[in-house]
Amino acid sequence: MSFDIPLFELNFGEEEAQAVAEAVRSRWISMGPRTAELERRFAEHIQAPYALAVNSCTAALHIATAMTVGPGDEVIVPSLTFVATVNAVRYTGATPVFADITSLGDLSIDPEDVRRKITPRTKAILPMHYGGFPCDMDALTAIAREHQLTVIEDAAHAPASRVHGKYAGAIGEFGCFSFFSNKNITCAEGGMLVLQKEEDARRARLLRSHGMTTVSFERAKGHATKYDVLELGYNYRIDDIRAALALVQLDKLGGDIQRRAILRQHYLEYLAGLDGIVVPYLDYPHASSNYIFVVVLKEGGAERRDAVRQQLAERGIQTSVHYPAVHRFNIYAEGAPELPKTDYVADSLITLPLFYDMTEDQVRRVCRELQSAL
Ligand SMILES: Cc1ncc(COP(=O)(O)O)c(C=O)c1O
Repeated sequence: MSFDIPLFELNFGEEEAQAVAEAVRSRWISMGPRTAELERRFAEHIQAPYALAVNSCTAALHIATAMTVGPGDEVIVPSLTFVATVNAVRYTGATPVFADITSLGDLSIDPEDVRRKITPRTKAILPMHYGGFPCDMDALTAIAREHQLTVIEDAAHAPASRVHGKYAGAIGEFGCFSFFSNKNITCAEGGMLVLQKEEDARRARLLRSHGMTTVSFERAKGHATKYDVLELGYNYRIDDIRAALALVQLDKLGGDIQRRAILRQHYLEYLAGLDGIVVPYLDYPHASSNYIFVVVLKEGGAERRDAVRQQLAERGIQTSVHYPAVHRFNIYAEGAPELPKTDYVADSLITLPLFYDMTEDQVRRVCRELQSAL
């Protein structure tokens, strides 16, 4: 099916094509100077001491969890997230423990439910900043401090979100960002791990590349001739072609965020009189990346929600669902707790189109069609 108004479109131009061409012409295409530049610029942007570029947010999440937990440990996670958040815990042999969302108007992990889920085995909390709206980091940080837990932020949606002047992803010990193709910054596949401590950054650097003490760029430049392998690492390296793309996208981030904030305002304006929906984060007090715009049907349930989505699709409007609840997937269902609010939202939420080049007219049309479908 082709859509008049897609869910998302790339904010790509000649600049991206040229940056890729230059990286190719430089004849150094694997991790090298462009990656180093991306790490430096991202750390500066996010106001964090260390940023390590990797080939996905999943890799960043795995490095962070691998450095924090292992078999027998528990990590408290949301269920209303992309499955990668939870898989990263499972990779380590630790157990993900699901907590519910706060409310239909606040889809982030509920700090009170986090508190209830803490056991003597709990070692970490892995909040996800849904849609670019940071979780209640004051509450989560206080709980973490009280129980000596590590905070690993899944900031895949939140490359420019801020709370009290601090960037999401730079509040906990680890922040994990995604540069997948539909994100605010994209280079097709890529990610960033943001860290606060020098010893963590050193170890994460090893884990990114097989546990090796040097990388090929250093050897090619004659800065190193030998290497040792200090621990069992992975190949989670990004490359300089994608780093070149991400650098251009990082330059565009400010404009992207501004445009998305305007589009969100248009949505709020055109949906203002519509009774059958809740718009999450309506009076959100902090700065959001506005990665997605979602609505929750007041009279929901998967059947009605899917019928509304179907009607929108027939009118040329692409929608999505962020997300099917992870605790209901086959691999996580056994022994999963009751999460009534997550269940309701997972069955009743619709993600509407939002992207840099979207026009006010398109927003108006989406809202009109949604009203008609309801
Ligand atoms: C919340 C969340 N976490 C993690 C990921 C995984 O990101 P990546 O595809 O870069 O591995 C995504 C990607 O869609 C995501 O939305």
